[in-house]
Amino acid sequence: MTETARQPAAAIPQRLVVLISGRGSNLGALIEACEQGRLPATIVGVISNRPDAGGLEFATRHGIPSQVLDHRTYPSREAFDTDLARVIEDYAPDLVILAGFMRILTPAFVDRFTGRLLNIHPSLLPKYRGLHTHARALANGERVHGASVHFVTPELDGGPVIMQARVPVAPDDTPDTLAARVQRAEHHLYPEVVRRLCSGEIQWAGRILQADGTPLPAPLQLDEDFDDLPAS
Ligand code: GRF
Repeated sequence: MTETARQPAAAIPQRLVVLISGRGSNLGALIEACEQGRLPATIVGVISNRPDAGGLEFATRHGIPSQVLDHRTYPSREAFDTDLARVIEDYAPDLVILAGFMRILTPAFVDRFTGRLLNIHPSLLPKYRGLHTHARALANGERVHGASVHFVTPELDGGPVIMQARVPVAPDDTPDTLAARVQRAEHHLYPEVVRRLCSGEIQWAGRILQADGTPLPAPLQLDEDFDDLPAS
């Protein structure tokens, strides 16, 4: 990677590019937050690695430019990531937001966007990195589960966690019911984290996560209640 390819994170991010692979409900939540003025930013582009991603509909409906880069048409992960980086840079984004983007990214790609690359993961990291987080949380008898938004580093699901949302686990939860509760929390969590980045409340300074100019000792917690369990 060349130094010219690397761009520093903007002090106050405003231009967002969102990467999706599927349903795009988090993309929908971010669009709604921008349109309602809760998020002082503009989604300038949506990119999907799957032509059939439902989230592309959200982009079309809201007049946001979108592109498909079908990973299956590339000879290697490196070739795909190189093209993906080129397409992203064309939008000149301040933040690149992974919202259900189901691809492992190469270290070169992550390095190029360090400090501008965010992900949402359906667990209270560092617990349950990787896949099938809800089933694993249930199998372990967790009483509390949730979602985390973190900066992306080359370590899978291992970057600094900015903020988490916690949800209770019901005794009769299945992976699907638990996933639905976590997703509802995600739709509040992701716009709130991006809002704080876009207002300068949270910064990634010299690879250190800061809130209001002070290093964050632990992830912030979203102060909202996602207890929609039936009364017993
Ligand atoms: C979310 O649960 C997110 O945590 C995970 O992928 C899912 C994406 O859902 N990374 P959607 O496509 O935003 O509906």
